[in-house]
Formats: sequence, structure tokens, C-alpha cells
Amino acid sequence: EKGGYEHFMLKEIHEQPTAIKDTYRGRMLPDEGIIRMAGVDDNLERIANAKRILIVACGTSWHAGLVAEYIFEELARIPVEVEYASEFRYRNPIISEKDVIIAISQSGETADTMAAIKLAKEKGAFAFGVCNVVGSSISRETHAGAYTHAGPEIGVASTKAFTTQITVLTLLALKLAKQNGTISHTEFMTYLQEMERIPSKIESALEGDEHIKMIADIYKDARNCLYLGRGYNFPVALEGALKLKEISYIHAEGYPAAEMKHGPIALIDEEMPVVVIATKKGHYEKVVSNIQEIKSRKGKIIAIVTEGDTEVRELADHVIEVPETLEPLTPLVTTIPLQLLSYHIAVMLGKNVDQPRNLAKSVTVE
Ligand code: M6R
Repeated sequence: EKGGYEHFMLKEIHEQPTAIKDTYRGRMLPDEGIIRMAGVDDNLERIANAKRILIVACGTSWHAGLVAEYIFEELARIPVEVEYASEFRYRNPIISEKDVIIAISQSGETADTMAAIKLAKEKGAFAFGVCNVVGSSISRETHAGAYTHAGPEIGVASTKAFTTQITVLTLLALKLAKQNGTISHTEFMTYLQEMERIPSKIESALEGDEHIKMIADIYKDARNCLYLGRGYNFPVALEGALKLKEISYIHAEGYPAAEMKHGPIALIDEEMPVVVIATKKGHYEKVVSNIQEIKSRKGKIIAIVTEGDTEVRELADHVIEVPETLEPLTPLVTTIPLQLLSYHIAVMLGKNVDQPRNLAKSVTVE
């Protein structure tokens, strides 16, 4: 059942190229230059004319929502707010009939996300679900939706659900951008073609596994770890930190790289590993100067870089290469090494990777 892998989590990490293909298959038609998504097509006007998109989710799904915020605003030019479902529902939020609320949930059973959707519906918003589990409560409660089609995710640590959520949300953003004319046909086509290359780019990111394992061995006894990223890769930093926390029980925090100097930099010393996402696109030079700041304080730098990078290589203690892609799609590749890093650390520490202590796969309590 684990397909020859030692843990479900590792199997699910490796399933990502296929899972992403399953997510876009039949929806993305590059030859015809269209994206077809039944749940969106049936409500296209309503969704594309949204005054605002509200995204509600918890945990890793919330991180996917943050990535989506950058993508929607960049491509479709629709204002987006991303909320923890648990905070949103308890603070008498301002919701109008012109709002579209998107609930992201792997299980489709998360109690707070479900309650947030019900609340928004009562106030007249249009509710759209992005779930993995077919027929789940949230998928039934929403007006329309799009499944991620990732297949069952057994490991408590979410991996393929995250990347397939981002895939669905990217397709949705592209579809709305096309409808509203906020990107050109050429740009639209470029995204579609690049999306088709993502599975093989993830395959090459997965090939870094042995090297990542070696890095895991060096840092497995760390007590703390920081994760930094900017722009599209800021939510990836949050997700990397969450993965490490939940399965290895090492304290980890993710920050936007520029926030370092507003506090967390005080933590840096020779004991502190800092994972920095420093891919070529997206404020690269700024990230390089953040790396210099860490280096001058003797922090240990593990950098995720674009293949062929030389600048960061000179500064970092370790580099992990990932293939280059369009900036909004980088989270789909930069996430992979972070999943593998936390996986290997947890295994080396002898932790229960698939069922970490105190956690459940679906959180149906409030
Ligand atoms: O099923 P959901 O996507 O609604 O679950 C949300 C969170 O409970 C979930 O993502 C959790 O944070 C994962 N264990 C993270 O790996």
C-alpha cells in the first residue's frame, strides 16, 4: 500500500508529478488555448466579477491560500484576503454579496473552515470549494468547486495536497484573468505551456534527495530553525517551517526575508540553521543581501537556488538546486526540497512521520 516506500509521506512526496498531472488533466487544454473547469464555467460571471475574493483555510491549506493571493492579484487583478478560518468566523467579518469565498481543504471536513463557509453563505457570498476528498462536507456545502484530484493523502503532513491546491488555484486565476482580460493571450499560453512542464521539473527537484538527506544529517540535532522567503516564496517558507515542526518536533518559524531585521535576526548565531528560498526570479538581489546579513552573524545557510546559480553558492553553507520556472509557479518546485528535508530529519530522529504526536489528519473539532 505504500508502493515500496517506507512511509506514506515519502510516497506522497514522490507522487506529486503524477498528482499535478491528474489535477490539470482535462482542464488545461493548451492546444485549444483554454481552461475548462465545470464549477467555474457554470458560474463564470459571478466569480470573475467578484469585488473581492476571500480565502479561508487552516494549516497547510492556508499556506496554499497565501500563494494563491499573490497569483490572483498578479494575474486576475482581483483583491484577495486570506484568513485563518478560525479567526474569520469569530470576528463578525464584513462580507457582501459581491464577495466570492474560497474554502481550501484537503479533507473537506475541517470544522472551522466549514463554519466560515456557512457564515459567508448566510451573508450572501458565493462559496467555492477546493477540496481533495470527493463528496466531503465542504465540497457539499459550497455552491461550486474544483477538486484537486491528488488521490488519497494518508500522511498527516500534507504534501501533494498542497501542490495540487496551488495547481487548481493557478488554473482558476488564469481562467479569471483570461475572462477579465487582465493578461494577454500570449501570456496565458505561456503559463499553460509552463504548467505542463512542472511535473518533470518536480521530478528533477526530487532527484536532489540524496544530497538533501546529507544536509538533514548535519542539522537533525538543531533545536531551532528559520525559514525565509519573499513574494511567492514567503508562504513556502511558512510551509517548510510547519513541515519541520509537525513531524520532527524541532521548533521552526517562517518569515518574509525582509522581516528578519525587525526582530528574528537577534536569534542568529552559529547554532541557527536558516533555510532561505533564493531562486532567481522574485527579488533575488534582496534575498542575496538577506543571506549576507545571516552570514555575517555566523548563521548556517541552506539555500534553495535556481539551477546553475553561482552567487548564492559562494555565500551559503549548502545549496539545493531546483529548475527554473515562471515566478508564480516557483512554489510548486521550491516546496519539494523542504518536504524532503523535514521528512529525512524526522526519520533520522526516529519520529512517527506518518502519524506525528498530537495531530489528526482531519481536524473536525473547533
Ligand atoms: O483538511 P484540511 O486541508 O482542511 O486541513 C487543514 C490542516 O489541518 C492541515 O493542512 C494541517 O495543517 C496539516 N497537518 C499540515 O501538514
